[in-house]
Amino acid sequence: MADIRSVGVVGGGQMGSGIAQLAAVHGLEVWLHDSDAGVLTRAHQSISSRIQRLVSKGNLTKEKGAEAIRNLRCTSTLDDFCSVDIVIEAIVESEEVKKNLFAQLDKIVKSSAILASNTSSISITRLGSATNRSSQVIGMHFMNPPPVMKLVEIIRGANTSDKTFNTTKVLAERLGKKIICSQDFSGFVVNRILMPMINEAFHALYTGVASKEDIDAGMKLGTNHPMGPLELADHIGLDVCLSILKVLHSGLGDNKYTPCPLLVQYVDAGRLGKKKGVGVYTYGKTRDEIKPSARL
Ligand SMILES: NC(=O)c1ccc[n+]([C@@H]2O[C@H](COP(=O)([O-])OP(=O)(O)OC[C@H]3O[C@@H](n4cnc5c(N)ncnc54)[C@H](O)[C@@H]3O)[C@@H](O)[C@H]2O)c1
Repeated sequence: MADIRSVGVVGGGQMGSGIAQLAAVHGLEVWLHDSDAGVLTRAHQSISSRIQRLVSKGNLTKEKGAEAIRNLRCTSTLDDFCSVDIVIEAIVESEEVKKNLFAQLDKIVKSSAILASNTSSISITRLGSATNRSSQVIGMHFMNPPPVMKLVEIIRGANTSDKTFNTTKVLAERLGKKIICSQDFSGFVVNRILMPMINEAFHALYTGVASKEDIDAGMKLGTNHPMGPLELADHIGLDVCLSILKVLHSGLGDNKYTPCPLLVQYVDAGRLGKKKGVGVYTYGKTRDEIKPSARL
């Protein structure tokens, strides 16, 4: 089985920067690319400071921390991915944008390289069809934040080979993750179950069943969830939740996945969650402030 030594990560947002950090800390060479140069600069700064924090807390030796930072290279050109063994894509949740990227990567990376997507919901089979290497295309769905959360959901497209699956599984385990496997149907397992719950929480808020605080407290204290569904939606990003619900709705053809109008309105208003400082809750020095969960 091919040994993965170098990883290309596309997308330096919440997920891509976390995946790049995780791979660098586990001794892999990492190339990180984002189409937005500002995002790339901020991603490098935040990954470096998170690694320094791991060192100062004693979770990583000084040498390993320095090595991890050396392992990470940011690039504004995808051509630098020509030598990587695997690419993990973590860009916007749009099938068209991802397909264009996969077609481009297919021409740049070496013939043995695997193209993995961190998509939350989009068909791996269709992403594979945008390339000439569909047997080497796979879903590698990390949870947020990738350095902390224990799970990676692996999704095989219709043409994904056993070799690609086994190499991806070994990589996820090397990164310290437990894996689950899912068939390639919209939303896979985790979001097929999670997103209807988040959508229902929005309906409960929209129709005045309870306040946002009571909806979240109800699910935390009543069902032992570490975060309430609205708090979790803010953490994921309301734009990401809406995109996933649209994929579930169109892919599975059931109206039960129709996004709640309140979720749509928040996204239209730019209230995208924690990353924008405002979503269901407002983050900052206001009465509405909620503290980041200790668990995530
Ligand atoms: N947010 C979550 O909790 C979560 C969890 C698991 C999986 N995901 C999935 O991970 C992916 C990324 O989500 P995120 O929350 O990190 O989003 P994000 O908005 O934080 O980051 C996306 C990044 O992709 C970049 N980008 C967009 N198009 C690009 C292109 N063509 N080439 C290069 N860079 C491009 C953007 O500049 C942005 O920095 C999505 O597919 C999402 O569904 C998200």
